[in-house]
Amino acid sequence: MDYDFSFYMPVQIFGGKNALFKNREALKLLGKCCLIVTGKTAAKKCGALSDLISVFEEEGIDYRIFDKITANPKTADCYEGGKIAREFGADFVVGIGGGSPLDAAKAVCVYAANEQIDCDEIYTKPVCSKPLPLAVIGTTAGTGSEISGVSVLTRCDGRKQSVSGKNYYAACAFADPRYTYSLPYGSTVSTALDAYCHAAEAAFSPRADFLTTRFSMLSAGILFPIIKKMSETKALPDEAERDALYYASLYAGFALNRAGTGFPHGMGYALTEDYSVPHGFACAVFLPAYLKEAQKADKELFKKFMNSSKADFDEVRAVIKSCFNFDIKISARKAAEYEERWRTLKNFKNSPADFNSRDAESLVISLFGT
Ligand SMILES: [Fe+2]
Repeated sequence: MDYDFSFYMPVQIFGGKNALFKNREALKLLGKCCLIVTGKTAAKKCGALSDLISVFEEEGIDYRIFDKITANPKTADCYEGGKIAREFGADFVVGIGGGSPLDAAKAVCVYAANEQIDCDEIYTKPVCSKPLPLAVIGTTAGTGSEISGVSVLTRCDGRKQSVSGKNYYAACAFADPRYTYSLPYGSTVSTALDAYCHAAEAAFSPRADFLTTRFSMLSAGILFPIIKKMSETKALPDEAERDALYYASLYAGFALNRAGTGFPHGMGYALTEDYSVPHGFACAVFLPAYLKEAQKADKELFKKFMNSSKADFDEVRAVIKSCFNFDIKISARKAAEYEERWRTLKNFKNSPADFNSRDAESLVISLFGT
Protein backbone atom coordinates (compact mmCIF):
# COMPACT_ATOMS: atom_id res chain seq x y z
CA MET A 1 0.00 0.00 0.00
CA ASP A 2 1.14 3.53 -0.78
CA TYR A 3 1.17 5.58 2.40
CA ASP A 4 2.04 8.90 0.76
CA PHE A 5 -0.27 11.74 1.61
CA SER A 6 -0.52 15.52 1.75
CA PHE A 7 -2.96 17.32 3.98
CA TYR A 8 -3.65 21.03 4.39
CA MET A 9 -6.61 22.10 6.49
CA PRO A 10 -5.88 25.20 8.54
CA VAL A 11 -9.29 25.55 10.23
CA GLN A 12 -9.37 25.24 14.02
CA ILE A 13 -12.39 23.00 14.61
CA PHE A 14 -14.19 22.93 17.91
CA GLY A 15 -16.43 19.88 17.81
CA GLY A 16 -19.05 18.75 20.30
CA LYS A 17 -22.21 19.92 21.98
CA ASN A 18 -22.10 23.53 23.21
CA ALA A 19 -18.84 24.03 21.28
CA LEU A 20 -19.57 27.73 20.92
CA PHE A 21 -19.96 28.38 24.65
CA LYS A 22 -17.01 26.20 25.58
CA ASN A 23 -14.65 27.83 23.09
CA ARG A 24 -15.76 31.46 23.09
CA GLU A 25 -12.15 32.61 23.56
CA ALA A 26 -11.54 31.79 19.90
CA LEU A 27 -14.18 34.35 18.89
CA LYS A 28 -12.81 37.00 21.21
CA LEU A 29 -9.44 36.69 19.49
CA LEU A 30 -11.02 37.68 16.16
CA GLY A 31 -12.05 41.19 17.26
CA LYS A 32 -14.70 43.41 18.79
CA CYS A 33 -17.01 44.02 15.86
CA CYS A 34 -18.63 41.29 13.74
CA LEU A 35 -20.88 40.91 10.72
CA ILE A 36 -23.03 37.78 11.01
CA VAL A 37 -23.79 36.28 7.59
CA THR A 38 -26.70 33.89 7.36
CA GLY A 39 -29.95 32.98 5.61
CA LYS A 40 -33.45 34.10 6.50
CA THR A 41 -34.64 31.44 8.94
CA ALA A 42 -32.49 28.33 9.62
CA ALA A 43 -29.95 30.04 11.91
CA LYS A 44 -32.78 31.35 14.08
CA LYS A 45 -34.77 28.11 14.09
CA CYS A 46 -31.86 25.89 15.06
CA GLY A 47 -30.76 28.10 17.95
CA ALA A 48 -27.30 28.92 16.60
CA LEU A 49 -28.02 32.62 16.09
CA SER A 50 -29.35 33.17 19.61
CA ASP A 51 -26.40 31.25 21.10
CA LEU A 52 -23.97 33.42 19.16
CA ILE A 53 -25.75 36.62 20.15
CA SER A 54 -25.68 35.67 23.83
CA VAL A 55 -21.93 35.03 23.62
CA PHE A 56 -21.43 38.37 21.84
CA GLU A 57 -23.51 40.22 24.45
CA GLU A 58 -21.69 38.60 27.35
CA GLU A 59 -18.32 39.37 25.78
CA GLY A 60 -19.12 42.91 24.63
CA ILE A 61 -18.71 42.15 20.92
CA ASP A 62 -20.66 44.51 18.67
CA TYR A 63 -22.51 42.83 15.79
CA ARG A 64 -24.78 43.34 12.84
CA ILE A 65 -26.78 40.66 11.01
CA PHE A 66 -26.78 40.25 7.21
CA ASP A 67 -29.42 37.60 6.51
CA LYS A 68 -29.94 38.00 2.73
CA ILE A 69 -28.19 34.77 1.75
CA THR A 70 -30.35 32.38 -0.25
CA ALA A 71 -29.74 28.82 -1.45
CA ASN A 72 -27.10 28.82 -4.20
CA PRO A 73 -25.75 32.19 -3.00
CA LYS A 74 -25.31 34.93 -5.56
CA THR A 75 -22.03 36.79 -5.99
CA ALA A 76 -24.08 40.02 -5.94
CA ASP A 77 -25.43 39.29 -2.44
CA CYS A 78 -21.97 38.38 -1.16
CA TYR A 79 -20.58 41.57 -2.67
CA GLU A 80 -23.26 43.55 -0.86
CA GLY A 81 -22.37 41.73 2.38
CA GLY A 82 -18.72 42.68 1.87
CA LYS A 83 -19.67 46.32 1.42
CA ILE A 84 -21.78 46.26 4.58
CA ALA A 85 -18.94 44.62 6.55
CA ARG A 86 -16.56 47.35 5.37
CA GLU A 87 -18.94 50.20 6.18
CA PHE A 88 -19.75 48.69 9.57
CA GLY A 89 -16.03 48.39 10.33
CA ALA A 90 -16.29 44.66 11.05
CA ASP A 91 -13.11 43.05 12.39
CA PHE A 92 -14.42 39.62 11.47
CA VAL A 93 -17.35 37.67 10.05
CA VAL A 94 -19.32 34.72 11.43
CA GLY A 95 -21.17 32.55 8.91
CA ILE A 96 -24.07 30.44 10.22
CA GLY A 97 -25.79 27.84 8.12
CA GLY A 98 -25.53 25.06 5.69
CA GLY A 99 -23.31 25.26 2.65
CA SER A 100 -24.89 28.36 1.14
CA PRO A 101 -24.40 30.85 4.00
CA LEU A 102 -20.98 29.40 4.82
CA ASP A 103 -19.78 29.64 1.21
CA ALA A 104 -21.26 33.15 1.03
CA ALA A 105 -19.51 34.20 4.26
CA LYS A 106 -16.16 33.16 2.78
CA ALA A 107 -16.78 35.44 -0.21
CA VAL A 108 -18.03 38.28 2.03
CA CYS A 109 -14.65 38.20 3.82
CA VAL A 110 -12.81 38.52 0.50
CA TYR A 111 -15.01 41.35 -0.83
CA ALA A 112 -14.86 43.23 2.49
CA ALA A 113 -11.08 43.48 2.41
CA ASN A 114 -10.76 43.95 -1.36
CA GLU A 115 -12.82 46.91 -2.52
CA GLN A 116 -11.29 46.60 -6.00
CA ILE A 117 -13.06 43.25 -6.63
CA ASP A 118 -16.51 43.64 -8.17
CA CYS A 119 -19.18 40.87 -8.15
CA ASP A 120 -18.05 38.22 -10.66
CA GLU A 121 -14.46 39.46 -10.58
CA ILE A 122 -13.99 37.25 -7.53
CA TYR A 123 -13.23 34.44 -10.02
CA THR A 124 -10.59 36.34 -11.94
CA LYS A 125 -9.03 39.20 -9.97
CA PRO A 126 -6.25 38.55 -7.46
CA VAL A 127 -7.04 38.86 -3.77
CA CYS A 128 -4.57 41.62 -2.82
CA SER A 129 -5.53 42.13 0.84
CA LYS A 130 -5.98 39.38 3.37
CA PRO A 131 -9.71 38.56 3.74
CA LEU A 132 -11.41 39.35 7.05
CA PRO A 133 -11.08 36.46 9.50
CA LEU A 134 -14.04 34.11 9.49
CA ALA A 135 -15.66 31.82 12.05
CA VAL A 136 -18.33 29.38 10.86
CA ILE A 137 -21.13 27.52 12.59
CA GLY A 138 -22.53 24.56 10.66
CA THR A 139 -26.25 23.82 10.77
CA THR A 140 -26.53 20.96 8.25
CA ALA A 141 -24.80 17.59 8.03
CA GLY A 142 -23.57 17.53 4.48
CA THR A 143 -21.65 20.30 2.90
CA GLY A 144 -18.28 20.09 4.64
CA SER A 145 -17.96 23.81 3.89
CA GLU A 146 -16.90 24.38 7.50
CA ILE A 147 -13.50 22.91 6.82
CA SER A 148 -12.99 23.40 3.09
CA GLY A 149 -11.27 26.20 1.23
CA VAL A 150 -14.01 26.26 -1.40
CA SER A 151 -16.91 28.64 -1.99
CA VAL A 152 -19.55 27.71 -4.56
CA LEU A 153 -21.39 30.80 -5.78
CA THR A 154 -23.90 31.67 -8.47
CA ARG A 155 -22.62 34.15 -11.03
CA CYS A 156 -24.65 37.06 -12.40
CA ASP A 157 -25.58 34.87 -15.42
CA GLY A 158 -27.17 32.25 -13.14
CA ARG A 159 -24.42 29.64 -13.47
CA LYS A 160 -22.76 28.08 -10.44
CA GLN A 161 -19.00 28.30 -10.20
CA SER A 162 -16.59 27.58 -7.38
CA VAL A 163 -13.70 29.68 -6.19
CA SER A 164 -11.10 28.20 -3.88
CA GLY A 165 -7.72 28.51 -2.26
CA LYS A 166 -6.04 29.57 0.94
CA ASN A 167 -8.14 32.77 1.10
CA TYR A 168 -11.31 30.73 1.48
CA TYR A 169 -10.64 28.88 4.72
CA ALA A 170 -12.31 29.91 7.95
CA ALA A 171 -10.11 30.67 10.94
CA CYS A 172 -12.29 28.49 13.14
CA ALA A 173 -15.39 26.31 12.97
CA PHE A 174 -17.85 25.43 15.70
CA ALA A 175 -19.17 21.96 14.92
CA ASP A 176 -22.09 21.41 17.26
CA PRO A 177 -24.46 18.73 15.91
CA ARG A 178 -27.36 20.09 18.01
CA TYR A 179 -27.87 22.76 15.35
CA THR A 180 -28.79 20.06 12.83
CA TYR A 181 -31.60 18.61 14.98
CA SER A 182 -34.35 20.84 13.59
CA LEU A 183 -33.56 20.14 9.92
CA PRO A 184 -36.65 18.73 8.14
CA TYR A 185 -36.68 15.31 6.46
CA GLY A 186 -36.05 16.40 2.86
CA SER A 187 -33.08 18.61 3.73
CA THR A 188 -31.67 15.95 6.05
CA VAL A 189 -31.72 13.35 3.27
CA SER A 190 -30.40 15.77 0.65
CA THR A 191 -27.49 16.96 2.78
CA ALA A 192 -26.61 13.42 3.87
CA LEU A 193 -26.56 12.36 0.21
CA ASP A 194 -24.32 15.32 -0.55
CA ALA A 195 -21.87 14.15 2.11
CA TYR A 196 -22.01 10.57 0.78
CA CYS A 197 -21.21 11.90 -2.70
CA HIS A 198 -18.25 13.81 -1.25
CA ALA A 199 -16.98 10.60 0.34
CA ALA A 200 -17.46 8.55 -2.84
CA GLU A 201 -16.21 11.12 -5.33
CA ALA A 202 -13.11 11.79 -3.23
CA ALA A 203 -12.46 8.05 -2.79
CA PHE A 204 -12.05 7.48 -6.53
CA SER A 205 -10.52 10.82 -7.45
CA PRO A 206 -7.09 10.70 -9.09
CA ARG A 207 -6.06 13.11 -6.31
CA ALA A 208 -7.02 10.70 -3.53
CA ASP A 209 -4.25 9.51 -1.25
CA PHE A 210 -3.82 7.27 1.76
CA LEU A 211 -5.34 9.73 4.21
CA THR A 212 -8.29 10.97 2.12
CA THR A 213 -9.21 7.37 1.36
CA ARG A 214 -9.33 6.63 5.08
CA PHE A 215 -11.65 9.59 5.62
CA SER A 216 -13.84 8.56 2.66
CA MET A 217 -14.26 5.01 3.94
CA LEU A 218 -14.91 6.11 7.52
CA SER A 219 -17.50 8.60 6.38
CA ALA A 220 -19.27 6.26 3.92
CA GLY A 221 -19.61 3.61 6.62
CA ILE A 222 -21.53 6.01 8.84
CA LEU A 223 -23.53 7.82 6.17
CA PHE A 224 -24.94 5.12 3.93
CA PRO A 225 -26.64 2.95 6.59
CA ILE A 226 -28.40 6.02 8.02
CA ILE A 227 -29.42 7.25 4.55
CA LYS A 228 -30.77 3.78 3.80
CA LYS A 229 -32.74 3.72 7.04
CA MET A 230 -34.19 7.19 6.35
CA SER A 231 -35.22 6.14 2.84
CA GLU A 232 -36.98 3.03 4.14
CA THR A 233 -38.70 4.48 7.20
CA LYS A 234 -39.29 8.00 5.83
CA ALA A 235 -38.51 9.03 9.41
CA LEU A 236 -36.01 11.54 10.73
CA PRO A 237 -32.86 10.18 12.34
CA ASP A 238 -32.67 10.13 16.13
CA GLU A 239 -30.22 12.35 18.00
CA ALA A 240 -27.39 9.82 18.03
CA GLU A 241 -27.79 9.36 14.27
CA ARG A 242 -27.91 13.13 13.77
CA ASP A 243 -24.62 13.45 15.66
CA ALA A 244 -23.08 10.65 13.60
CA LEU A 245 -24.27 12.21 10.33
CA TYR A 246 -22.77 15.56 11.25
CA TYR A 247 -19.34 14.27 12.16
CA ALA A 248 -19.35 11.97 9.12
CA SER A 249 -20.06 14.98 6.91
CA LEU A 250 -16.90 16.58 8.31
CA TYR A 251 -14.84 13.42 7.64
CA ALA A 252 -16.13 13.48 4.05
CA GLY A 253 -15.19 17.18 3.99
CA PHE A 254 -11.59 16.31 4.92
CA ALA A 255 -11.43 13.95 1.95
CA LEU A 256 -13.18 16.40 -0.39
CA ASN A 257 -10.93 19.27 0.64
CA ARG A 258 -7.90 17.41 -0.65
CA ALA A 259 -9.29 15.20 -3.43
CA GLY A 260 -12.08 17.41 -4.85
CA THR A 261 -15.29 16.30 -6.52
CA GLY A 262 -15.96 14.26 -9.64
CA PHE A 263 -18.59 14.42 -12.35
CA PRO A 264 -21.68 13.93 -10.14
CA HIS A 265 -21.01 17.37 -8.64
CA GLY A 266 -20.16 19.00 -11.97
CA MET A 267 -23.28 17.60 -13.64
CA GLY A 268 -25.45 18.12 -10.56
CA TYR A 269 -25.01 21.88 -10.78
CA ALA A 270 -27.08 21.88 -14.00
CA LEU A 271 -30.03 20.16 -12.29
CA THR A 272 -29.89 22.71 -9.50
CA GLU A 273 -29.60 25.71 -11.84
CA ASP A 274 -32.22 24.68 -14.39
CA TYR A 275 -34.64 22.47 -12.42
CA SER A 276 -34.16 23.69 -8.81
CA VAL A 277 -33.17 20.23 -7.59
CA PRO A 278 -31.50 20.57 -4.15
CA HIS A 279 -27.75 20.07 -4.34
CA GLY A 280 -27.52 16.69 -2.57
CA PHE A 281 -30.21 15.02 -4.71
CA ALA A 282 -28.82 16.66 -7.87
CA CYS A 283 -25.38 15.13 -7.33
CA ALA A 284 -26.56 11.78 -6.00
CA VAL A 285 -28.64 10.97 -9.07
CA PHE A 286 -25.37 10.74 -11.03
CA LEU A 287 -23.52 8.80 -8.35
CA PRO A 288 -24.42 5.26 -9.54
CA ALA A 289 -22.85 6.05 -12.94
CA TYR A 290 -19.79 7.35 -11.13
CA LEU A 291 -19.52 4.18 -9.05
CA LYS A 292 -19.75 2.10 -12.23
CA GLU A 293 -16.80 4.04 -13.63
CA ALA A 294 -14.98 3.51 -10.34
CA GLN A 295 -15.56 -0.22 -10.58
CA LYS A 296 -14.06 -0.24 -14.08
CA ALA A 297 -11.02 1.71 -12.92
CA ASP A 298 -10.22 -0.06 -9.66
CA LYS A 299 -12.17 -3.17 -8.69
CA GLU A 300 -10.40 -3.60 -5.35
CA LEU A 301 -11.00 -0.04 -4.21
CA PHE A 302 -14.60 -0.24 -5.40
CA LYS A 303 -15.10 -3.37 -3.33
CA LYS A 304 -13.59 -1.71 -0.28
CA PHE A 305 -15.83 1.31 -0.70
CA MET A 306 -18.94 -0.86 -0.98
CA ASN A 307 -17.86 -2.89 2.05
CA SER A 308 -17.33 0.34 3.97
CA SER A 309 -20.81 1.49 2.91
CA LYS A 310 -22.16 -1.85 4.20
CA ALA A 311 -24.04 -2.25 0.91
CA ASP A 312 -23.67 -3.51 -2.61
CA PHE A 313 -23.96 -1.42 -5.74
CA ASP A 314 -27.59 -2.35 -6.47
CA GLU A 315 -28.60 -1.32 -2.98
CA VAL A 316 -26.90 2.07 -3.30
CA ARG A 317 -28.56 2.62 -6.67
CA ALA A 318 -31.99 1.61 -5.33
CA VAL A 319 -31.73 3.86 -2.27
CA ILE A 320 -30.72 6.86 -4.38
CA LYS A 321 -33.56 6.13 -6.80
CA SER A 322 -36.11 5.98 -3.99
CA CYS A 323 -34.86 9.31 -2.58
CA PHE A 324 -34.98 11.16 -5.91
CA ASN A 325 -38.55 12.37 -6.32
CA PHE A 326 -38.28 14.98 -9.05
CA ASP A 327 -40.09 14.74 -12.32
CA ILE A 328 -37.50 16.01 -14.76
CA LYS A 329 -37.63 15.73 -18.50
CA ILE A 330 -34.65 16.78 -20.59
CA SER A 331 -34.87 16.98 -24.37
CA ALA A 332 -32.12 15.71 -26.66
CA ARG A 333 -31.47 19.31 -27.66
CA LYS A 334 -30.97 20.42 -24.06
CA ALA A 335 -28.73 17.41 -23.39
CA ALA A 336 -26.64 18.41 -26.41
CA GLU A 337 -26.33 21.92 -24.96
CA TYR A 338 -25.07 20.43 -21.72
CA GLU A 339 -22.60 18.30 -23.64
CA GLU A 340 -21.15 21.41 -25.22
CA ARG A 341 -20.97 23.21 -21.89
CA TRP A 342 -19.41 20.21 -20.16
CA ARG A 343 -16.56 19.79 -22.64
CA THR A 344 -14.38 21.93 -20.39
CA LEU A 345 -15.73 20.62 -17.08
CA LYS A 346 -12.80 19.94 -14.76
CA ASN A 347 -14.76 17.37 -12.76
CA PHE A 348 -14.44 14.79 -15.55
CA LYS A 349 -10.66 14.84 -15.17
CA ASN A 350 -11.12 14.40 -11.45
CA SER A 351 -13.10 11.18 -11.98
CA PRO A 352 -12.03 7.56 -12.47
CA ALA A 353 -11.82 5.84 -15.88
CA ASP A 354 -12.38 8.08 -18.88
CA PHE A 355 -15.91 9.42 -18.59
CA ASN A 356 -16.36 12.46 -20.85
CA SER A 357 -18.98 14.98 -21.97
CA ARG A 358 -20.43 12.58 -24.57
CA ASP A 359 -20.93 9.93 -21.89
CA ALA A 360 -22.49 12.62 -19.70
CA GLU A 361 -24.95 13.51 -22.47
CA SER A 362 -25.96 9.83 -22.84
CA LEU A 363 -26.33 9.54 -19.08
CA VAL A 364 -28.64 12.57 -18.93
CA ILE A 365 -30.77 11.12 -21.73
CA SER A 366 -30.95 7.69 -20.12
CA LEU A 367 -32.05 9.24 -16.80
CA PHE A 368 -34.28 12.09 -17.95
CA GLY A 369 -34.76 11.78 -21.72
CA THR A 370 -38.17 12.70 -23.13
FE1 LIG B 1 -21.55 18.96 -2.40
